[in-house]
Amino acid sequence: MTDYLWSKGDDRGPDGAVQGFLAGEDVVWDRYLFEHDITASRAHVAGLARIGILNDDERARLDDALAHLGDAFAGGAFELGPPHEDGHSAIEAYLTERLGETGKKVHTGRSRNDQVQVALRLYLRARLDALDEACRDIAGAFLDRAAADGGLVMPGYTHLQRAVPSTAGLWLAGFAEAFIDVAGLAALTRSWLNSSPLGTAAGYGVNLPLDREGTAAALGFDRLQINPQYAQNSRGRFEFQALSCLAQATLELRRLAWDLSLYASAEFGFVKLASRYLTGSSIMPNKTNPDAVELLRAQHAVVQGALTELQAALALPSGYHRDLQVTKPPLIRAFESGLRALRLIPDLVATLEFDAAKMRAAIDPELHATDAAVEQALEGVAFRDAYRGA
Ligand code: ARG
Repeated sequence: MTDYLWSKGDDRGPDGAVQGFLAGEDVVWDRYLFEHDITASRAHVAGLARIGILNDDERARLDDALAHLGDAFAGGAFELGPPHEDGHSAIEAYLTERLGETGKKVHTGRSRNDQVQVALRLYLRARLDALDEACRDIAGAFLDRAAADGGLVMPGYTHLQRAVPSTAGLWLAGFAEAFIDVAGLAALTRSWLNSSPLGTAAGYGVNLPLDREGTAAALGFDRLQINPQYAQNSRGRFEFQALSCLAQATLELRRLAWDLSLYASAEFGFVKLASRYLTGSSIMPNKTNPDAVELLRAQHAVVQGALTELQAALALPSGYHRDLQVTKPPLIRAFESGLRALRLIPDLVATLEFDAAKMRAAIDPELHATDAAVEQALEGVAFRDAYRGA
């Protein structure tokens, strides 16, 4: 059986099917947290040295070994997988194997409960920064197109019915503004959750004068989560808020994808997508299909599903429960997949071709009815009479 971190040296504990069940997909998803776990572990080691738990030589050896492990992981020389129970156990096992007694000291004053929390917090921060950047890139691409082609006329729709004359610029810049708002929300959410759980141990603190402020500052946190039980109770809730922010982006992405799939259809014929976003049919030789746009639309379903799964897992009393482990896969899956989708948008928008003639042809004369009624109102006719007479 695995030599568990918590093993007392006898042969008690899970093995076989139970061991596989407990680890679940954990080692797979911990690959996304591993670099953050190492960053936080280095801050923890420095903090232990500041309060005299580690001497300078031990601190330096642990720090070097952690840096080495980080590089080995990034370069593919160290793989996270069975028999590790999770990423946290893998780090300690590596340090102990490499440094012996000194390696065994790394876990002084911490629990895997605050260890996973701090790694998740750093992951969320990085993903919210990436979301912020992706949304600003998208807004920039829309604004560039609005500047270049904004004057092309097209109908404005309500209820999917032609309503009034409008422009490509209005359509394009509307998305720019939406994504600027989501970028702002990502920055706000990042600062809302930028507090340090490190040092809260299993949820009840620890009888050591840990330099929590120092480790928080070293990791770029703005403040501490003060109550240790709250630190555990916030697990999943912070993830939920970050995912909600991502959902704001994928909601707008869904609308864009809908517009594009309509406007690219022969029925509208307003836009052509670059060929790299199109696929063919296995049976109908005449078809080109906007599969990429449809999968962009489906991203919101992925995020919505993740929010539901996460929320369901949080039906728990106070404190840490292993149930919380299942919040990782939906969170990470949704963020990785959502960001991959969002990063396609600037190029998709930049390479969109407008069919100016088809857009103009869709402006039926009666689309001017509202303007005409308003013009009469300007000349003194009561608007309702002008409306009725139109
Ligand atoms: N894989 C675990 C999780 O994600 C790590 C924490 C384990 N803690 C424990 N007390 N068993 O929650």
